[in-house]
Amino acid sequence: MDKIQNTYRVISNERLCAHFWRLTFDAPQLAQEVQPGQFVHIRTADGLEPLFRRPFSIYRAQRYVEILYEPIGPGTRLLAVKQKGDSLDVLGPLGTGFKMPPERTKQVVMIAGGIGVAPMLILTDILKKKKYELILLYGGRTRGHVYPMKEFKDSGVKVYISTDDGSVGSKGRVSVLFDKVHFNPLTTFIYTCGPNPMIKGVQEFAAKHNIGGQASCEEIMACGLGACLGCSIETKHGYRTVCYDGPAFDLEEVIFY
Ligand SMILES: Cc1cc2nc3c(=O)[nH]c(=O)nc-3n(C[C@H](O)[C@H](O)[C@H](O)COP(=O)(O)OP(=O)(O)OC[C@H]3O[C@@H](n4cnc5c(N)ncnc54)[C@H](O)[C@@H]3O)c2cc1C
Ligand code: FES
Repeated sequence: MDKIQNTYRVISNERLCAHFWRLTFDAPQLAQEVQPGQFVHIRTADGLEPLFRRPFSIYRAQRYVEILYEPIGPGTRLLAVKQKGDSLDVLGPLGTGFKMPPERTKQVVMIAGGIGVAPMLILTDILKKKKYELILLYGGRTRGHVYPMKEFKDSGVKVYISTDDGSVGSKGRVSVLFDKVHFNPLTTFIYTCGPNPMIKGVQEFAAKHNIGGQASCEEIMACGLGACLGCSIETKHGYRTVCYDGPAFDLEEVIFY
């Protein structure tokens, strides 16, 4: 599918927990074509502020397209006031999504921090057809960063939760959940998304145990099309743009400091 800019109708915009919202819009062609790990670039303002579009992972693409978001600044706060019937200016699908696991894979472990859980549901929708054992390790800061995750559970995903303050699930960062899983270097594959220090921790764990995976990286973006180089990150193969070469990269490829 070409990178299409279009205006879509908002179907719903609901708060799922204190910090996370889900916005659903009617974009049948986009829903059909999008790959897990790709994102959309949304113009959140009708006026000039904020000027640039904001990137959001596709959370789910079935009849409608869904994004999961956390209002943290002007653009995302404007999204939170969108109502059913409003129009939404969307560019996408953009970027390079997740690679599928290698043939030998039996178990897929998704490791997400905060709003980094967003690309994991559309991934689940694809992977559940392959009969893998699916596990989600989710780390949120507080109870307000944990929502029911019913769609994951309904899809047969085993969900384990940690919070920094212990208000839900295990106390601590998502790494405290690693011992819930029997990782097997031959048959486990990891997908991860979240803050860079978290991805770095997952990268180190995976390298130590010789487990392959993919990471969805985030960087502040402008064009979203690979033109301005504003979202470049360092990889073992040189600088790469998150918006065009990524957001999904091989887990061992990205260099974190
Ligand atoms: C590929 C990609 C996918 C994303 N998917 C989602 C998603 O599914 N749901 C979601 O809620 N958010 C997602 N984000 C982050 C989202 O784009 C930002 O939260 C949003 O742009 C913030 O806009 P704002 O105007 O509300 O706040 P701003 O004022 O622009 O930002 C608020 C604060 O967050 C920081 N910030 C903004 N963007 C990023 C970023 N990408 N990485 C690290 N810090 C940042 C800013 O420096 C500032 O301190 C994604 C980002 C990328 C690159
Ligand atoms: S945002 Fe312009 S190259 Fe990625």
